[in-house]
Amino acid sequence: TTQTPAIIAMDGPAGSGKSSVSKEVARRIGFGYLDTGAAYRALAWQALQTERDTSDATSVLEVASDFPFSISLDPDAFWVKVGDTEVTEAIREPRVSDAVSGVARVALVRRAMNAMFRSLVADSGLRGVIIEGRDITTVVAPDAPVRILLSADPVVRAARRSAELTSLDTAAVAVAMQRRDASDAQVVDFLEAAPGVIPIDSTDLDFEQTVDAVLEVVTDILNIA
Ligand code: DC
Repeated sequence: TTQTPAIIAMDGPAGSGKSSVSKEVARRIGFGYLDTGAAYRALAWQALQTERDTSDATSVLEVASDFPFSISLDPDAFWVKVGDTEVTEAIREPRVSDAVSGVARVALVRRAMNAMFRSLVADSGLRGVIIEGRDITTVVAPDAPVRILLSADPVVRAARRSAELTSLDTAAVAVAMQRRDASDAQVVDFLEAAPGVIPIDSTDLDFEQTVDAVLEVVTDILNIA
């Protein structure tokens, strides 16, 4: 029998902890995990690979029109591929982070991405999926029973990001992060919770505490143990 997966929508800025937290929550409750940012990053990677101008909408649309993307929904075995090439690591490179906003700004690209996300989830055969990104609570899955906006103070987010990147230069990471946030925020508002979206501020929470805060909301609404 096919089932309609329960959806948990999770938005937030870079360094809010949303990827690691939603992956762990997915593990704990036996849900799938969809990292939508990874799809935008893979498209940016492909555009760079084929030497296209990532700030030009027409070029980006050309890349998007032939984009053999696949992604794992398994939180224990995460991978991202473009064609046969695994790009799981490559899409985290700074050159991709710098190019991705331009790619994500193209409205037709977003529309195609959203359709792809919805069918990936619908066809997953899973009992539930946590979808994580910037516009999941508002655009991709506005009717999801659980919608959470994970936020954190910008200084804390920059510190987490630079730890992730094992960069010694927190100030440079902060500047790059703020530049990307500002650019991304022109496209979707992910810094403020839309009506009905539950805000969780992780500024003063460690990883485990943030996972627990999200689990509390999730189990409360979805009736799962
Ligand atoms: O979460 P992330 O840093 O991996 O996201 C990469 C980029 O993709 C980010 O700059 C914003 C964009 N993005 C988006 O526009 N919409 C989403 N649902 C997810 C990511």
